[in-house]
Amino acid sequence: MLMQSAFAAIASAFFVLKINFVLAIISMIFAALSILPSIFGGAMLDRASLKWSNANKSYLGRLKEVLAGVDIIKNYQAEKQILKSTNNKLVGSENDYESLNNKQFLFQYFAWLLAVVSMIGPLAFGLYFRQVGLFNVTISTIITLLSSSSSVVSNLRSAIQYFSAIKATHALRQAIIPNAETHDQSSAAPLPSKPELTIKDLSFAYKNHAILDDVSLSLPYGEKLLLSGDSGTGKSTFLNLLTNKLLAQKGSITLGQQQIRANDYAYITQQNWVFDASVRDNLTLDQNFSDQQLVESLKEVNLDQELSNDPLDYQCGEEGKNLSGGQKQRLSIARALLRKRPLLLLDEITAALDDRNSERLRNIIYQLPQTIIEIAHHYNDQQIAENQVLHVQLRAGKIVKVLG
Ligand SMILES: Nc1ncnc2c1ncn2[C@@H]1O[C@H](COP(=O)(O)OP(=O)(O)O)[C@@H](O)[C@H]1O
Ligand SMILES: [Mg+2]
Repeated sequence: MLMQSAFAAIASAFFVLKINFVLAIISMIFAALSILPSIFGGAMLDRASLKWSNANKSYLGRLKEVLAGVDIIKNYQAEKQILKSTNNKLVGSENDYESLNNKQFLFQYFAWLLAVVSMIGPLAFGLYFRQVGLFNVTISTIITLLSSSSSVVSNLRSAIQYFSAIKATHALRQAIIPNAETHDQSSAAPLPSKPELTIKDLSFAYKNHAILDDVSLSLPYGEKLLLSGDSGTGKSTFLNLLTNKLLAQKGSITLGQQQIRANDYAYITQQNWVFDASVRDNLTLDQNFSDQQLVESLKEVNLDQELSNDPLDYQCGEEGKNLSGGQKQRLSIARALLRKRPLLLLDEITAALDDRNSERLRNIIYQLPQTIIEIAHHYNDQQIAENQVLHVQLRAGKIVKVLG
């Protein structure tokens, strides 16, 4: 295709030069004008296009992370803040897209303008030469030389298309930006400073499959409970009842004599959510905390010394790839401690850790003031005895005391 066009160009150049040398040279100089935008505008368009593509990638990456962390974002009522920062990325990406479109339009506009100039220029010269009788210019010479005018029409058509594209993205921008409404916070009385967790006659079944059968349990503030039991006995179901993800058929669960609300607990699982940002951003979730508070929470989980000299600005990497499994879990716990949740619910958080790291993590959580319910399969009997952990098992719908 390229060779074909090149030959066609050379052939037509010979043809026009033969018709009238001087006017042909003038037409070609003017024609060269219309190539200028693509020489100088190409690099500009490439830059704008790269900028938009990077912004878009960053927005899509962020969206993926937010979807993966939706439970935690909800748990910490960070929807508004996370939505805002995600939306900023979207707006950034849309602005880059609009700017790319504007540049494309500008580019097309200049190309079109120069195409018009390159057509009118030789025409004016031709008419002038004919008028004063120079270079044997006739009307038919001029008409033949100007027969390449179709490119002007096609450029004009593109310019109109780009112009409507800009208008379209404007409408898109208006439609796509979500409305970051505040999350409803129930207006119940504040919790007592050391609330007791009380479970009374709790029964739960999935259809006919009984999981909990009249379970009662009372944990004073600060108690550490280890819940073990065979797979499928209902341990995770129990935590889902505590966090209102499931509704019991019978019985009650209260913390400080009130229904448990989302901001009473932190729920941490084996699949900890660490997103591609700094430790600071991972802790705050774009909510307001001072650096001092952040460092305090890192200290509580022994993470203040491990992550470079400046742990708050340490980059966690995609899915936290710059952190070890134990560090990720400790970061998740620091995120909960920062928000002073009185109840920590931990579902197999040591499942992916080796014994040494599991024991280390437990030594940290056993020193915390909060009430803690931890589900675990592997544990160190000596460690739980030394820390006066209450060890219970779920067996056939009943909670049975093992130790403590
Ligand atoms: N949404 C559900 N619907 C029906 N049965 C379920 C559902 N979730 C879990 N189960 C069943 O309930 C039992 C307890 O599950 P789970 O609480 O996850 O156990 P554990 O955490 O102790 O391993 C299992 O037999 C499981 O198959
Ligand atoms: Mg489970």
